[in-house]
Amino acid sequence: MKTLIYAHRGASKDYPENTMIAFKKALEMGAEGIELDVQLSKDNVPVVIHDEQLKRTTNGSGFVKDMSLKELKELDAGSWFNSTFNKEKIPTLEEVLVWIKDTKLELNIELKNNIIDYEKIEKIVYELVKKYGMETEVIFSSFNHCSLKRLLEIDEHINVAPLQSARMITPWKYAKGMGATSMHIRFTSLSQKTIEGFHKEELKVRTYTVNRSFLMRQFFKWNIDAIMTDMPNKALEVRDNK
Ligand code: G3P
Ligand code: CA
Repeated sequence: MKTLIYAHRGASKDYPENTMIAFKKALEMGAEGIELDVQLSKDNVPVVIHDEQLKRTTNGSGFVKDMSLKELKELDAGSWFNSTFNKEKIPTLEEVLVWIKDTKLELNIELKNNIIDYEKIEKIVYELVKKYGMETEVIFSSFNHCSLKRLLEIDEHINVAPLQSARMITPWKYAKGMGATSMHIRFTSLSQKTIEGFHKEELKVRTYTVNRSFLMRQFFKWNIDAIMTDMPNKALEVRDNK
């Protein structure tokens, strides 16, 4: 079984996270999937940015939720990383969907609603993904497991993956019980036995965020379904030249 490599926030070690260039470079590098983070603008447009606030990854300040899409689009989402990326904008989720549908990339949409529980984010994001016919292809994840349950109430056929950072005794039972098809577990909370537990239940398990070679090698050996990494190029080298 081949472990897939998902670019965490795109190829975010070398390019500004959650921007179109980071996603396009991940594809060029050979990543098989993309992980990205979604918040809602003031006018309820899903936008791709990790933090609730703008200051770390843009030249703006304040909360994403307090700005319209038009205002968000005026911001520079690349210069914080390197001035050569000063043309990068905060992408809308729709822009990513339009681009990704013509690639073979898998897509993991993380709803960033564990700090701000955006009203109706599930319906808004689901309808947008459905507009592109990708609702049963993408993986919806969140640390807000109630939100994933709300998504499953909208459509029981979609793939949801609860995010989990702490160790659990039998996480595969939890995932199965809530109707998830996989779970995304922080690398420090995973063992080979846990991965086997998921596979026995015919569930998938993926891990984040794996950037060190020896950990990549370990998870490839343990046959995890996918790793999320800021360095898809490095992970591909480790996986394919082992
Ligand atoms: O989806 C896995 C991982 O991205 C969750 O943590 O903070 O990098 O979004 P974070
Ligand atoms: Ca994320």
